[in-house]
Amino acid sequence: MANGILKGKKGIIFGALDDKSIAWKVAEFAHKEGAEIVLTNAPIALRMGTINELAEKTNSIVIPADATSIEDLTNLYEKSMEHLGGKIDFVLHSIGMSVNVRKGKAYYEQNYDWTQKGMDVSATSFHKTIKAAWDLDALNEWGSVVGLSYVAAQRVFHSYNDMADNKALLESIARSFGYHYGLKKNIRINTVSQSPTITTAGSGVDGFDGFYKFAEDLSPLGNASSEDCANYCITLFSDYTRKVTMQNLFHDGGFSSMGMSQDVMDTYMKNIGDKKS
Ligand SMILES: NC(=O)c1ccc[n+]([C@@H]2O[C@H](COP(=O)([O-])OP(=O)(O)OC[C@H]3O[C@@H](n4cnc5c(N)ncnc54)[C@H](O)[C@@H]3O)[C@@H](O)[C@H]2O)c1
Repeated sequence: MANGILKGKKGIIFGALDDKSIAWKVAEFAHKEGAEIVLTNAPIALRMGTINELAEKTNSIVIPADATSIEDLTNLYEKSMEHLGGKIDFVLHSIGMSVNVRKGKAYYEQNYDWTQKGMDVSATSFHKTIKAAWDLDALNEWGSVVGLSYVAAQRVFHSYNDMADNKALLESIARSFGYHYGLKKNIRINTVSQSPTITTAGSGVDGFDGFYKFAEDLSPLGNASSEDCANYCITLFSDYTRKVTMQNLFHDGGFSSMGMSQDVMDTYMKNIGDKKS
């Protein structure tokens, strides 16, 4: 369904690890829509993942950057502008990691060094990504920056742990920097709050299969896939959404507006019946 709506635009895409990554789909679709892109990920992820395949497919290059390092980010923008021959029109921040989740520490027994690390990677890195661009004046007027979030920023999901706090901060950074960068250069900054999606980061959350199935049953349109998410991101990079900024945009098949659905009620009541008999 490519319509060339990103023709002439230059972008940087963070977070494509393998072909399940949401960022992988965004990169593929951005390329199909006519954009020229640079791919980036943390040096360690470049060794583990299959990003070079994606670079070949999308005619792009890979520039390593740890998104918690201003030095790496500055180098990334400088090299990207050099390679793409101009300033950047869009940036996708598709990064998340909690050491507490990885190591199975519950919300109420966090190791604060790990909490700090997870917050730096998952949320403060969004600020740093924008700040590095700001300092270099690396973004074109009406540029668009998108970060990926999850509804656990607003509602409790019992095992999402400190990632919930990280997502709340991520969404706040989109609002606050959206104000400053909007005034300075008409730059748009938004977060997309995506349905549970089967990826390396998603599946790492304890009980993910349950979250996925519950959201699928509760949402009138069903869960949004990573392809759906990529399509939505493309619209946010395009000129069709120039006045959308400082928003957390739910992209979840209606999940965030639901209380109860017939499907979920039927499953729950059947469970109670099974337990009684
Ligand atoms: N999968 C889901 O269910 C879901 C739902 C809503 C939002 N999200 C969000 O989508 C985004 C992408 O996650 P995904 O599901 O595609 O999983 P993923 O594991 O494919 O992507 C996460 C990426 O973060 C990168 N990363 C980690 N530390 C980094 C660092 N220091 N510097 C640079 N990159 C680093 C990883 O290498 C990886 O590529 C995350 O922000 C995640 O929280 C995911």
